[in-house]
Formats: sequence, C-alpha cells, structure tokens
Amino acid sequence: MVPNKSLRVLIIGSGGREHALLRACKASPLVAAVSVAPGNGGMEQEAVCYPLNVSDTAAIVALAKKLDANFVIIGPEVPLAAGAVDELEAAGILAYGPTKAGARLEASKSFTKDFLVRHGIPTARGKRFTSSEEAVEYLAAQNFPVVVKADGLASGKGVVVAEDFDQACTAVYDILDSHCFGASGNEILIEEFMEGEEASIMLMVSEDRYVMLPPSQDHKRVGEGDTGPNTGGMGAYAPASVVSPSVARRVVSEIVEPTLKGLLSEGIRYRGTLYIGIMITAGGPKVVEFNVRFGDPECQVLLPLMKTDPVSVMHDCATGTLDPTTVEFRDGFDIIVILAAEGYPGTPRKGDVISLPTRLPPETGVIHCGTVREDNGAIATAGGRVLGVTARGASLSEAAQRAYALVSQIHFDGMHYRRDIGARELRREARA
Ligand code: AMP
Ligand code: GLY
Repeated sequence: MVPNKSLRVLIIGSGGREHALLRACKASPLVAAVSVAPGNGGMEQEAVCYPLNVSDTAAIVALAKKLDANFVIIGPEVPLAAGAVDELEAAGILAYGPTKAGARLEASKSFTKDFLVRHGIPTARGKRFTSSEEAVEYLAAQNFPVVVKADGLASGKGVVVAEDFDQACTAVYDILDSHCFGASGNEILIEEFMEGEEASIMLMVSEDRYVMLPPSQDHKRVGEGDTGPNTGGMGAYAPASVVSPSVARRVVSEIVEPTLKGLLSEGIRYRGTLYIGIMITAGGPKVVEFNVRFGDPECQVLLPLMKTDPVSVMHDCATGTLDPTTVEFRDGFDIIVILAAEGYPGTPRKGDVISLPTRLPPETGVIHCGTVREDNGAIATAGGRVLGVTARGASLSEAAQRAYALVSQIHFDGMHYRRDIGARELRREARA
C-alpha cells in the first residue's frame, strides 16, 4: 500500500486523455503534487505545465528528476515506443506504461500481426509488403474491401479501408511511394476486411495479472453513421453491451490470456494499459489492433467509471503488486462527445477562440484536448480534437442528453462534432 499524499506525479502528454488522468490524480488521496508536460490550455488552469517534446526521452527523465517526481504516468504511445519507461526505470523512477519492447504491440503492426499468428490469437488475415509492385500484384487477386495499413505510428490515421482495387492501389502508392506517413509507411500490411461491430477492451496490466475495464465503443469515422475518413476518435461511451458476458468470456480466453502469456513467454514484462481493439464477427471476437496506452477518448469515460482510485491501480501495476480482486466499478454510463476543429481530420485550423459556459450542468464536464491559453487568458483551438464534453447518467440516453445539452452551449468557429455518439447502444437500450 502506498501512503496517502506520497506521490509526486508527472503526467506526460497534452490531449484529452491526459486531462482525464490529471483529474484522476487531483482526486486521488495518494497524490501530493501533480504536474504535466506539455499539457494544454485547459490543464494549465489546473496544474503547472512544462514545455516538452514527448518523443525526447532524455528530456522526460531530466524533467522527472528536476521535479523530484516519484511516479510518471505516460499518456501517449510515442514516448513509450521511444523507450521512456526503460530510461525512467534506469534512472530509478517508477513509471506507468510498458517498456519499449512491449510498446512494439502498437508501434509495429507487422510485429503485432506476427505475434498474434505466433500465439494463435484470432485476427484478420494479413500480408506485409515493402514494394508497391508486389502489393498491387497481391491486390489483383483479392476480394474487396481490403484494409491497407501503414506499419508504424500514424496517430490513428494510417489505415485505409479500400472498397475496390483502385482505392487500394492509391493507398499503397500514397503510403509506400509518396511516403504520406513518413517512415511509418516504409512497410505496409494488407488485411482481410472483418465484418462486425467494433469495441475497445482496456486492460490495466501487471504482467500476468490484469484488471479489465468496462468495454467501451469509440467512433472513429469523422461523420455521422460512421462515414468519412478515420480520425483519432470522435466520441465514446461505456459500458458497451455489445460486449455481452459471453463475448467477454471469449475475449478473455481467446485473446487476453494468450496475449499476456505470449508476452511473458517472449520475455516482455508488460506493466501498463493494454488496449485491445476488437471486431465482434460472426465467428467471434478478433483483434483489430493493440494500443499500449489508454484510448483517447475512451480513457475519459473509463476513469470516471472506476470506484477504486485509478492512480492506486496504475501504481500497483507499475510496481507489479496489482490485486485485481480489489478493483471496483460504478454503475451507470459515461459518454464523451468530441468537438473538433475546422479541417479535422485533415490539417486543423488553429486559433479560433472558444466560448464556454461559466457554469456546467450537473453530471457533466469539459475535457481539453487541443487548446491553448492565450496571453489575454482566452482559450483557443490548437489541435484537431479541441474539447471533449463528458456526461454521466443512469442510462446512456440520460448521459447523452446531458452531454448534447452542454455541447449546445459551447461555440468556436468551424466547430464540428457527431450527433450520434452512442447511437448503437441507444438503439439497443430503446429495444430493451
Ligand atoms: P487500426 O488503427 O488498426 O485500429 O485501424 C483503424 C480502424 O480501421 C479500426 O478501428 C477499424 O475501424 C478499421 N479496421 C482496421 N483493420 C480492419 C479490418 N481488418 N477489418 C475491418 N476494419 C478494420
Ligand atoms: N480511440 C482510439 C485510440 O486511442 O487509438
């Protein structure tokens, strides 16, 4: 057990996920002090934020030392993939998140595909290519749609669901030859398209032990009815009943357990969040992707559903002392609606001033994702996903009504959002 007020926490990251982590730290009895790097305009109103390039692992260690932090929570994948946790550990500083070896589950889709196949974990059939000529030859013999993926990190945007041969070829040429995702696209993966409903399974892992958070659903396409290009995520809710108890049992026995065993058998000591994106197909749940950190925006709905202090769970994972039987969740539903900037998921326009109500309705919240505080104190847009409006309710429809009522009180030029977050679950709720 960690004594109350003994943790000096440093949170790495600048998005909505990190704002939710900051709120969890501020509410935790274990935390004596919390700072953030680099943070954003909203977080600056709640904690001291330090400038930081999150891919600079030496700078992360230096800042943690300067602040005398004894617990570093890493939000995004980039520092994890760059080995921030390995370096913090070498400096004697405890951190939440996997080491560089574990982070490959997100940093390389080809590594992950091979890992899944090696351990007999259900996933889409896929083939790797570095030559566009060979890829196109392969495509000529495929049924469509197919999915074309850049191997490396691309902020959730390196995936194209191609409806026909021409679209697939364009994606191949864009990624491999025109380098539209830079070095992340030196290799591609072409996958069979899996038909089904998607869900996010978030585990807080301490090697062979883990806590499974309530299942959630993200909304990756920019447009209502799941249309338009993929984004980092336009909204989420939890729990998602599409992961029924029987689906959850299959996820545990066919995906979670073999994955954690596989990691250990390969000498990877995994401590941190493991996000499993699943497709619930007619043949059962299959892995779409792994992420090695909390989903954004899923994190913003999952942390508030934890009755047990999330900081204590993260700390126990990091020290390898997690006792999953002690972790409890609240009843009810949480939802988040992302308010995005003009142009997103392309290049977003920045600098639009945001007007927010001075008082929030009960059971609602505003999470800052891409904002900046200007010299005159005004909050302006500074990223693609700008704000997340959260709400809680006894039912999802109550949560959604509360969230959208607050959305209607927020404005910035170019603001766009999906009006159908949670629609699938709302239809299920209406039928029940
Ligand atoms: P990823 O970054 O791998 O999660 O891919 C982004 C999104 O593309 C996923 O959330 C799915 O909606 C979609 N996707 C990726 N791979 C597949 C697949 N094999 N079949 C169907 N949809 C997929
Ligand atoms: N919400 C999807 C992700 O964080 O990648």
